[in-house]
Amino acid sequence: MEEIGRIFGDVGLGLFQLNLSSPVERGEYLAVDDETHGRVLCQLDNLLRKSDLDLERAGTMHEGSDTPIHERLLGTATIIGYRNNQGIVCIPTMPFRPGAPVFRAEEPLIAAILGIGKHSAAGAYVGLLRGHSLKVELDINQLVQRHVSVLAKSGGGKSYLLGVLVEELLRHKVTSVIIDPHGEYGSLRIPAEENGVHARFSVQSQGFPKQIQEFSPDVSLNPSAKPLTFSLRGIDPRDLLVFLGLTNVKQYLTPLRTLLEEVSAANPEFSVKDLARAAERKAEPVFDQLHDRLDYLEETRILGPKGTSLNDLVHKGEATLINLKGVAPDIQEIVVARLALTLFDNRKKGKIGPLFLVIEEAHNFAPQQGAVACSRILKNVASEGRKFGLGLCVVTQRAARIDKSVLSQCNTQLILQVTNPLDLKAIAQSIEGLTPGMTEMIQSLPVGVALVTGGGYHTPLFLEVRPRATKHGGESVKIVDN
Ligand SMILES: Nc1ncnc2c1ncn2[C@@H]1O[C@H](COP(=O)(O)OP(=O)(O)OP(=O)(O)O)[C@@H](O)[C@H]1O
Ligand SMILES: [Mg+2]
Repeated sequence: MEEIGRIFGDVGLGLFQLNLSSPVERGEYLAVDDETHGRVLCQLDNLLRKSDLDLERAGTMHEGSDTPIHERLLGTATIIGYRNNQGIVCIPTMPFRPGAPVFRAEEPLIAAILGIGKHSAAGAYVGLLRGHSLKVELDINQLVQRHVSVLAKSGGGKSYLLGVLVEELLRHKVTSVIIDPHGEYGSLRIPAEENGVHARFSVQSQGFPKQIQEFSPDVSLNPSAKPLTFSLRGIDPRDLLVFLGLTNVKQYLTPLRTLLEEVSAANPEFSVKDLARAAERKAEPVFDQLHDRLDYLEETRILGPKGTSLNDLVHKGEATLINLKGVAPDIQEIVVARLALTLFDNRKKGKIGPLFLVIEEAHNFAPQQGAVACSRILKNVASEGRKFGLGLCVVTQRAARIDKSVLSQCNTQLILQVTNPLDLKAIAQSIEGLTPGMTEMIQSLPVGVALVTGGGYHTPLFLEVRPRATKHGGESVKIVDN
């Protein structure tokens, strides 16, 4: 093993300082031999180049004087631990000795202590440990049972990584429902074009056309999708006002309620057309307005006597995409609310199998400030879903703007580059075990590198996201060709 430095100064139980004799990068794994427990895995958390050059002498250098500089490269390392007789990762209870040599950790030690590099039947292969060729698999049961968040700034690679995760769900025949506000995930049907990166990560391109179902409330804009319709039966008149795009609740709520009561009494299987005709028959201006809006709503076919049945919507082992591209935000919120409620209720009653509900742009559906139609049900799924085998995955570019109680329920976090200080603060507050060095590193992660916490691992680790087996649907748009 290559010695890279020596421990010096006051040595703590969780971290120590070392004088580096070889260049080592922040985040690299190190090893120290402990007298009692053998080889212990550590990680370089920070670096400092210390020198005796003061301000005055630096000034004379500028004038061309020959100034000798004595410098040292110092590091701060955190202790990850060793495995005890029961295979549990422990931290030594006595500090290392000052002067002890520090080595660059070899892959077998890293793999053994972190618990990576071996294939498991329930493992979702998401990438390689950064700087190594060790495969990182996330425990699918943990993901579904204990919720997931994917956090990064816009363009940070969230949708790409989520695509990787969904590919793994499909390979493992895990049922999922994906709220897809931009219509990006239909490309999971199409194999990716392979390149050299695929070989390095041992990924073969593959599409999943038979395991993808796509629904949309607006099939005119999204012709690849089947229509997603909701039942009019028992609809709350306030929700119906949102579908109608009418914001003046005071003016329209009572007339609409009257209309609903009359029409449903005459025919419990009523349609939007029946409501429109009934409004037309009433010779009052407020009903004229309702009539116009109801006519338009009828054309969208989002509400009908019978909604899309759950059996059509969710198929075991498949992914259902809810393509909301082009759908007005308040209608998106109702769609998500109704879907999440239906899935949660039917899961509780055991009418559908365990499944994973993925919410892209989750800050819009479970905002920290204010409430939208689906806020409450998403909070319920976050806090209680795991008891019923309904896993939640929230994806957001604004960690500070998503409901804190939802974020803190996610036990696996996949974090790509984040630069906004408020978002960084929200992340640091909701995740245990992040070192100050890691929080700093999140700000400068290159595209394709993620920090993973949870997911079956006891320590956060950096991951090079594997290439997609399927085509990525969210390519950044070029305005000018180069
Ligand atoms: N692991 C990766 N390997 C290669 N390219 C990637 C990777 N991750 C992301 N990219 C590229 O970076 C760009 C942005 O990625 P992506 O669409 O996933 O970002 P995003 O975080 O979802 O952005 P937004 O917030 O705008 O939705 C895409 O063009 C994608 O191809
Ligand atoms: Mg995206």
